[in-house]
Amino acid sequence: MKLWEGRFAAPTAADADAFNESLSFDKKLYKADITASLAHSEMLGRCGILSDEDRLAIQSGLKAILADIKAGTLEISGQEDIHSFVENELVSRIGDAGKRLHTARSRNDQVALDIRLTLRDYSKTLQAYIVELVRVLCKKAAENTAAVMPGYTHLQRAQPITFGHALMAYASMLLRDLQRFEDATARMDAQCPLGSGALAGTTYPLDRQFTAEKLGFAAPCANSLDGVSDRDFCIELANAISICMMHLSRLSEEIILWCSWEFKFIELDDAFTTGSSIMPQKKNPDVTELIRGKTGRVYGDLNTLLVMMKGLPLAYNKDMQEDKEAIFDAVDTLELCLKTITPMLDTMKTLPANMRRAAAKGFINATDCADYLTKKGMPFRDAYKLTGCMVSDCIAKDKTLEELTLDEFKGYSALFENDIYDAIDLVKCCEGRTSYGGPSEASVNNQIALANAQLDAWEEKNA
Ligand code: ARG
Repeated sequence: MKLWEGRFAAPTAADADAFNESLSFDKKLYKADITASLAHSEMLGRCGILSDEDRLAIQSGLKAILADIKAGTLEISGQEDIHSFVENELVSRIGDAGKRLHTARSRNDQVALDIRLTLRDYSKTLQAYIVELVRVLCKKAAENTAAVMPGYTHLQRAQPITFGHALMAYASMLLRDLQRFEDATARMDAQCPLGSGALAGTTYPLDRQFTAEKLGFAAPCANSLDGVSDRDFCIELANAISICMMHLSRLSEEIILWCSWEFKFIELDDAFTTGSSIMPQKKNPDVTELIRGKTGRVYGDLNTLLVMMKGLPLAYNKDMQEDKEAIFDAVDTLELCLKTITPMLDTMKTLPANMRRAAAKGFINATDCADYLTKKGMPFRDAYKLTGCMVSDCIAKDKTLEELTLDEFKGYSALFENDIYDAIDLVKCCEGRTSYGGPSEASVNNQIALANAQLDAWEEKNA
C-alpha cells in the first residue's frame, strides 16, 4: 500500500515505481528509522498528541519489527522506501494505532534524521579502523627507527631518512583524518531535523528539544527548511573519506614502488599479493593498486553529492534520494580499504639492507658535506657550489663522496679534515638530524609516542 493513497485515481506505472524506489539501498537505515520513530512516538505521548494506549502499542510494535529484522525473520521488501516499509508493517501488525505514528512528521525530516543517525555510527566504525591502522604504522615505525633509506624529492634521492620516519609521515596524515571524522561527526550531531515536518514545521505542540536530546543531538535544527534540505553532513563525511582515501592511495603508491625490484625495500606477505596467469615469477601488489584505483571512485561519490546539491531550491527535492548510494559507497569503500591495508602492513617484511644500499648511492649526504664546510666557516652558498662540483667529479669517476681520499678532499678545500668521513657517514647524517620532526631515532620515537597518545585519547573517549 502506498503512503499517499487518496489523492490518486490510478496506480503508478511499474517502471515509475521501480525508478522511484530507494528501498534497495535505504534498507540499511532500518535501525535508525525505528530508533527515530520510538523517540518521536515517545515525544508525541509526552506532549499529549498520542494516547498512552496508542503510544505503547506503537512502541512495542516497533520493537518487535526491529527484533524480527535483526533475527532475519522479517524481510525488508515490497515498499518504496524504508520509511514506508516500517510504517506499513506497523499498521499491518497493530492496526489504527500504527496510522497515528506519522502525526506531525514527514518522510522529509524522517530521512534527514535517519541518515544522520546511520552515518554517525559508520563514522565511528571508520575511526576505529583508522586507529588500528595508525597503531600498526607506529609499531612498524618503532621496529625501523634505524633503517636508513633515501628520502626523496621529485622521486630523486635527496637526503637520508629512516623507514620509521617515512611511516610516521603517513601516521601523521591519518591522525589528521581521525580529527576530520570527529569534526564532521560533531557537526552532524549538532542539530536534529526531526520536527521540521515536510518543510514548514507543524501546528502540533511538539517538544523538539526532547527528541533532539533523546537521539543524541545538541539541539533541534534552528530552521525547518534547512532541517529537511541540508546534506552538508553527507558532503563533509564524503570529504573526510576522500582525503583519507587520498592518503591511503599515496601510501599504496609508495608500497608499490617499495616492493618493486627497482627498490625492494619491503616484501609483502603472500597473503596480500597475487600471481600472474602467465609469468611464473610474478608477485603483484594488487591490493595497493586497487586502493589507488578505488580512490577515484570515492572522489566520484563526493562529486556526486556536491553536484546533486548545487542547484536545489528549498526545501526537499527527490534529487536528494541520490545521497545514500553515494555516501554509502564511499563509507563501504574506505572500510574495505582500511580493513585490507592494515593487516597487509602488519605482515610486510622490511629489507633494511636494501634500503641502506640505496642510500649509499645518489649522494644523499651532499647537503651534509656542504653543511660541514659551512660549519667550518665557508659561506653556505659557496659550500653548496663546491660540493656540487665534487659530486659532478665523483659521477665522472663513478665514486661516492665517502670514497674520496683525504688528499682529494683537501684538493677541493683546506677546510676538510679527517672528521669529514664522520660528517658524511649516512647513519650519522641521519642520526644528526635531531631537529623536531626529523628522522633521528629520538625524534621518530617522540613522533610515535605522540601518535599513540592521540590514539589512547580516542580510545578512552570512545570506550
Ligand atoms: N526515499 C526518500 C529519500 O530518500 C525519502 C523521502 C521522500 N520524500 C518525499 N517527499 N518524496 O529521499
